[in-house]
Amino acid sequence: MKILVVGGGGREHAIIKSLAAEGRQLFCAPGNAGISNLATCVDIKINDIDGIVKFATEEKIDLALVSQDEPLVLGMVDALQSAGIRTFGPNKAAAIIEGSKAFSKDLMKKYNIPTAAYEKFTDSAAAIEYIKTQNSYPTVIKASGLALGKGVIIAQTFEEAKEAVVEMLEIGKFGDSGKEIVIEEFLTGPEVSVLAFTDGHCVRPMISSKDHKRAFDNDEGLNTGGMGVIAPNPFYTDEVEKIAYETILIPTIEAMNAEGRTFKGVLYYGLMITDKGPKVIEYNCRFGDPEAQVCLSLLKTDLLEIVDAVIDERLSEIEVKSEDGAAIIVMMCSGGYPESYEKGKEITGLDENGQNDAFHYVFHSGTVKKDGRYLSNGGRVLGLVAKGKDIADAQNSIYSNIDKVSFEKSFYRHDIGGKR
Ligand code: AMP
Ligand code: GLY
Repeated sequence: MKILVVGGGGREHAIIKSLAAEGRQLFCAPGNAGISNLATCVDIKINDIDGIVKFATEEKIDLALVSQDEPLVLGMVDALQSAGIRTFGPNKAAAIIEGSKAFSKDLMKKYNIPTAAYEKFTDSAAAIEYIKTQNSYPTVIKASGLALGKGVIIAQTFEEAKEAVVEMLEIGKFGDSGKEIVIEEFLTGPEVSVLAFTDGHCVRPMISSKDHKRAFDNDEGLNTGGMGVIAPNPFYTDEVEKIAYETILIPTIEAMNAEGRTFKGVLYYGLMITDKGPKVIEYNCRFGDPEAQVCLSLLKTDLLEIVDAVIDERLSEIEVKSEDGAAIIVMMCSGGYPESYEKGKEITGLDENGQNDAFHYVFHSGTVKKDGRYLSNGGRVLGLVAKGKDIADAQNSIYSNIDKVSFEKSFYRHDIGGKR
């Protein structure tokens, strides 16, 4: 069986690792140096829909998985399916749940799904007037479209809020993604990532997890794509889970169906547990990164079995089981990330397969291989995963080994999972 995964980060490395089994021939476009130890990497850009369809057709791919936001929002799944390729992931009509925050906020309002109060704007004067009349800080300004996790500004003062509005609507900081903005109420509480498989009828969540988005210890520094994750999330108690399932997980699927935008794939619910219960901060139309590396490391059910059940709309017939215990990932990043950073630094501590036995697994986010050596090739470079009987155990394991792998100017957070 030939399987193609579209993407080239740690998430795709984790997906490929979960799919790897005898009788399965794996391809990844474009992949990376770590992935190339498990799959044939094909040099096609993630947004090159025609190129991916051509490759999948010529190679007679049996199953394709698209797991990055941009190709999903652009309609890569639709294009692959039209070409007769069996494909896992939401179509363009459903991927809008991540592609447009204006859409997802309106959806939640229409179907009474708990989320922060908001207004949408395309005109800066109207937006600034609204901020003035609200006169409540912090306030949250979001570019409606995709912005690599950087399109959210938490403004502490009127001046900061105004600057964010001007940057997005007038200067065009996020291009088309920031031509419409959402201004929303600032919520407080612990955040939970819930990655759930759905076939449009039933929702089967994986183990809950907790991302750490800020670049530095104590949640200081800029927002990033994610610096580390723990699973399970200690704040996602059975009681919260039940409420979230009934008021958010299921209603979202039903709302998408009612809109004629049935969602099939992995839906990422970014929740905040407020004192009024769980509320949606954002939806993503795909596995989170780095959440996927942790959740898939704990997944007991064969990923391919789940993928098949989603595509064939019989997810209710199977269970999605996770191991007991906990897992943690700490991202090793290039100095300067999430702003400018250097690439091409030699990574020490990896064997020829890009692994180090001290860890459960080393997922590669941004690496290349030259003359048999692994070099850094991105802001987030490696994701080091440990498992344990609980979070503290997994945390001890990761931090007692983490310095076995390094490269010039690398950095990581020391407090993933909380201060030790
Ligand atoms: P998003 O890209 O929408 O997930 O936002 C990035 C991060 O900004 C979230 O993970 C939260 O930490 C924070 N954030 C977003 N919206 C809100 C909100 N309404 N209130 C408080 N924090 C928020
Ligand atoms: N880790 C957050 C995301 O995947 O968007």
